[in-house]
Amino acid sequence: MDEESLSRRAAPMTVLVVDDEQSTRELCAAVGGECGMKVQAVGSAEEALELLEQFPVDILLTDLKLPKTSGLDLLKRVRGLYPHTAVLVLTQYGSIESAVEATRLGAVDYVTKPFHVEELKARLERVTRDVELDQENRLLREQLRTRPGFGGLIGMSAKMQRVFKMIERVSQHEYPVLILGESGTGKELVARSIHFSGPRQDKPFVPVDCSSLVPTLIESELFGYVKGAFTGAFNSKQGLLETANTGTLFFDEIGDMPVDMQAKLLRALQEREVKPVGSTERRAINVRVIAATNRDLEQAIHNGQFRQDLYFRLNVVQMKLPPLRERKSDIPLLVASFLEKFCDPQQAPRTISNDAMQRLMAYDWPGNVRELENAIERAVALGSGPIVHVADLPSNLIYPTGDRAPEREELLPLEELERRAILRTLRQTGGDKLATARLLGIGKTTLYRKLKQYHMEHTVQ
Ligand SMILES: Nc1ncnc2c1ncn2[C@@H]1O[C@H](COP(=O)(O)OP(=O)(O)OP(=O)(O)O)[C@@H](O)[C@H]1O
Ligand SMILES: [Mg+2]
Repeated sequence: MDEESLSRRAAPMTVLVVDDEQSTRELCAAVGGECGMKVQAVGSAEEALELLEQFPVDILLTDLKLPKTSGLDLLKRVRGLYPHTAVLVLTQYGSIESAVEATRLGAVDYVTKPFHVEELKARLERVTRDVELDQENRLLREQLRTRPGFGGLIGMSAKMQRVFKMIERVSQHEYPVLILGESGTGKELVARSIHFSGPRQDKPFVPVDCSSLVPTLIESELFGYVKGAFTGAFNSKQGLLETANTGTLFFDEIGDMPVDMQAKLLRALQEREVKPVGSTERRAINVRVIAATNRDLEQAIHNGQFRQDLYFRLNVVQMKLPPLRERKSDIPLLVASFLEKFCDPQQAPRTISNDAMQRLMAYDWPGNVRELENAIERAVALGSGPIVHVADLPSNLIYPTGDRAPEREELLPLEELERRAILRTLRQTGGDKLATARLLGIGKTTLYRKLKQYHMEHTVQ
C-alpha cells in the first residue's frame, strides 16, 4: 500500500437499501448515488438475503418495519453471515426502543423517518469512514499475517524490500558487513537477521555495545584476561571475541570505540586470534563480524577519530538503512504490528483512527521506527477503548513545531536543551538509563554517547 492509497480505495462503496415503500427506496438510492456509492434497492428481507448471497455489500440500509421477516431479524442474520457489512437502520419516528435494540444487535447507527436528505447523507458518510477504517485494518492484519518482512523486520516499501534482498544475500557469506543508518532505523535488527538467516544461526550472536564499554575495561572485555592479570582478577575470564567463536560478533556503535582499541581489534580480526590480558598465549577465533554506526565514519577518519585500516576491514559490504521519513508507506503496517504487540491479547484488536494515522504520516520521525514504536506503546497504555485517537499520541505529533509557540520560554541552544532534557529525565527515573532512553525515544547506545558528550556519565547513579 502506498501513501496515496491510504487516503482511499478506488472502488465505490456498495449499498443495499431494504424498504417496502418505493418512495423511500428511491430517495435512499438517490442520496447514496450522490455520495458516490453503488446502490441497489429491494422491498423485503427475503429479497435482500437472496441478493447478498451473490453480492455481499459494504453497507446495508434497512427499514425495521418490513412485510414478512422484520428488519431486526434481517439485521441479526446479516451480522452473523456477513460480519463486515455495516448495518444502518431506518426507524419510525417515536419508536426509539427498536432503534436501541437494533444498535444492541450490532447496527452501527440509525436514522429516524421522516429524514432530511442531508441527515441521511451525513450518516452514510460516517458509516463509510468506519467501513474504510475496518477494511484497511483487516488488510493490514492480513498483510502482517503473511509476513511481508524479514526476521521481525517489517516493510513493504521498495527501500525495505531492497534491504531484505541484501540481508538474504549477505547472510549466506562470511564477509564483514557495515550497517549505517540513523538512530532507530533497525540496525541491530538487521544484524540479527543476517546472523539468524545464515549458516551460523545455531552459533552465538554476541552484541558488543562499543558506546557503553568502560574505556579502561574494553581490552579485557573484548579479549578476556587470565587469573592475576590485574588487581581483582581472581579468576580468568573469556572475552567477548572468544564467546562469539564460530558465531557472529556485532559491534554496535563501532564509531565510539577508542582509537587505541581500534588498532588492537583490527589486529585480532586480521590474525584471527586473541591474546587475553596477562597471557602470553594466543587463541584462535573464527567469527563473522558485523558492525553498525549512526556516525559518519569517513568524517571520523578525517578527524583522526577512526582508523582507516579498520574501516576498510569492516566496510566490505555496506548496508544503508533508510530513515522512516523516506519510507512512510511502511507506517500503517508498522503501526498495525506495534498495536498487536502492545495490546492485551485477551481484548479485541485495537485500531487507529484515520485522523491519528494522518498525523503519523505527516510527522518527520527523527527517532525513526523506535520513536514510532514508543508512540504506539504510549498510546495503547494511555488510551482506552478499541480505537487510538489523536489525543493519545505524543504532543509533538499533535502540535507540530510552530503550532504551540512557548510564551515566555527561555531561548537556548539545541545542545543545552538536549542536555537539560536528559538530565531531567534521568532525575525522574532515578538514574535508570534504560527507562531514560525509552522516555526520550532514543536508543540506549545513543543515550550513552550523549552522556559522554555532555560529561554526565556519573550523573544520578
Ligand atoms: N523494520 C522494522 N520493523 C519492525 N520493527 C523495527 C524495524 N526497524 C526497527 N524496529 C524496531 O525499532 C526499534 C529500534 O531498532 P534497532 O535497535 O534495531 O535500531 P538501531 O538502528 O540499532 O538504533 P540505535 O542507532 O538507536 O541503536 C527496535 O525495537 C526494533 O525492534
Ligand atoms: Mg542500535
